[in-house]
Amino acid sequence: MSALPISKKGKTVGEVIEEAVRLAGDILLKRFNETKTIKNKGPKDIVTDVDLEVEEIIFEHLENNYPEMSMIGEESYDGKMPDGFVWIVDPIDGTRNYAAGIPIFSVVVALSYNGQVIAGANFDPKKNELFEAEKGKGAFLNGNRIKISDKTEMEKSIIGMDLSYNDNGAKFGFEIIQKLWPDIQTVRIIGSSALGISYVATGRTDLYFNYNLKPWDIAAGILLIEESGGIATDRKGEKANLFSEGILVANATLHKTFLEITDNMKWRS
Ligand code: IPD
Ligand code: CA
Ligand code: CA
Repeated sequence: MSALPISKKGKTVGEVIEEAVRLAGDILLKRFNETKTIKNKGPKDIVTDVDLEVEEIIFEHLENNYPEMSMIGEESYDGKMPDGFVWIVDPIDGTRNYAAGIPIFSVVVALSYNGQVIAGANFDPKKNELFEAEKGKGAFLNGNRIKISDKTEMEKSIIGMDLSYNDNGAKFGFEIIQKLWPDIQTVRIIGSSALGISYVATGRTDLYFNYNLKPWDIAAGILLIEESGGIATDRKGEKANLFSEGILVANATLHKTFLEITDNMKWRS
């Protein structure tokens, strides 16, 4: 894809994304300690009034800048992915944390073209950390280039995972941890897949896996991983795309080792 389109207001895609996530971040911080209305979407999946409010505000900002582009967001998705340019929004990744007052959550805004993510950001307002990437231009944390970890041994690696909202996701994921343990350093389950993946892109953690995710959880993450020098695949080891059910991200060596160790395990099927 050639140069990305300039917005109606004369801004670059990167500028519009940053404005959108920071706008959202301000609301997330303001509402963090306030009472929220919480509804159940599934047995363990919840949504707050803040998710809904923030998704609307991000949509409005994107629409004002790029009225010709389509948008999908977690809280309004109708199951149809449009062609061409599509914005993908997760207003709060880590809603369970956010609703419980645990300060680990983020906001994701990414732009895709015919199903390929071409730019995206994941913003953690509590830490003021902006993880962003544009296809072919590298991945950055607050403007500084980030690189995936160069560790090659599982024994020295920090492994991240989350349970997803699928019972097998947790069950099969724990089987993997049991298989890896004690030949890894430690495990982190932080309750935000978007941050879990971003942390691998920065080299803070070395590998992240999740059984079942949605396009908005991984939209920025796939690009962050690829632009930081890593590999992002589905559970079978095929290159990840927006509709991959599960995700596995790491550098090439750890990724290969994980696939070898977990061959034939239920998580992989
Ligand atoms: C969830 C988080 C969680 C992951 C779930 C996601 P949400 O996103 O990323 O870590 O395990 O599968 O759905 O619901 O907080 O946006
Ligand atoms: Ca999410
Ligand atoms: Ca969400």
